[in-house]
Amino acid sequence: MKGIISIISFLLVGIATAIYIGFGNTYAPKPIAVDHELQGLNEKYILKFSHVVAENTPKGIAASRFAQLVKEKTNGWVEVQVFPNGVLNDAQGEFEALKKNEVQIIAPAISEIAVHDPKWTVIDLPFLFENEEMVERAFDGKLGELLFQSIAQYHYKGIAFWDNNFKQFTNNIRPIVTPADLQGLTVRIMPSPLLIDMYQTFGAYSQSFPFNEIYESLRRKHIDGIENTLSNIYSKGLYQQQKYMTVSNHNYLGYAVLMDDKVWDTLPVHHQNSIMEAMEEVTEWLRTYAKEHNKDMLLKVESSESLNIHYLTESERNLWKEALSPIYEKYEPIIGKEIMAEVWKLQEAIR
Ligand code: SIN
Repeated sequence: MKGIISIISFLLVGIATAIYIGFGNTYAPKPIAVDHELQGLNEKYILKFSHVVAENTPKGIAASRFAQLVKEKTNGWVEVQVFPNGVLNDAQGEFEALKKNEVQIIAPAISEIAVHDPKWTVIDLPFLFENEEMVERAFDGKLGELLFQSIAQYHYKGIAFWDNNFKQFTNNIRPIVTPADLQGLTVRIMPSPLLIDMYQTFGAYSQSFPFNEIYESLRRKHIDGIENTLSNIYSKGLYQQQKYMTVSNHNYLGYAVLMDDKVWDTLPVHHQNSIMEAMEEVTEWLRTYAKEHNKDMLLKVESSESLNIHYLTESERNLWKEALSPIYEKYEPIIGKEIMAEVWKLQEAIR
């Protein structure tokens, strides 16, 4: 009898230990190899969110707000850890890190995504958007839907489009008023093939390198100028290294928040819903904030005595559009009829 009791006790201790190891100790960030039968019971998910800009920028603040909202909505079962300023990866490195599951969320500039999916060059078409309302319609409408459908073939789950604002030219050589003024200048750009072609059209030299190397490159005079949003130009002190700025609004700098689709699929549906809810709230907030913030940064940059600012007039803007029409001709077939049809609809609606 004593022997039987000992065997039963031994078995009970064994089962209890197995339960503790198997179920209780599952706090590791392992969104890919999840036991589907246990999903959502007591899994804690850690999602690393990498981005390259400062914490006090629209994207930086949006990422932190998103992390806070996800924590609240999932009662802490999903923890978003934000890594700003490119501390983990530069923008292109983020794609690789996402695929290796070293990070789980990224929000690269659309011009960086265009390297992976040529259809996304559509957003780099110069002077595509006249104002923020048009951008909103594009991101919320069919155009945005088609872009997310397209990137899905590369196994990215598109979570949201995030705003920054329009890009402006800055440089140290001369005021930029007409396209000819860019001739011979060396300008840092993001690596989108369309942007490379655009600067070739201007007779300028373009260089693509990570965002967080711009300040040093300007300081060492390795490049003459850049194109970026006022938020980025101000938050990284880039304007301090430049003599001229043209408020050109020639391109829109927006972002897409992306996850790897396999990682997304391993999250329990109720967490996916909470993440989407949090994302919608943040995206809506960001839309207004990014616009206002870029206006405020213009005021700040305007008060810098060392920067000479030119505002493109409507007729100057038309000159630029004309000079850049070969870019539209080259990229229409690459972007494809379906997406271009949405572009024409948007432009028609604004007329
Ligand atoms: C960003 O806003 O994410 C960076 C943009 C850039 O690389 O110029």
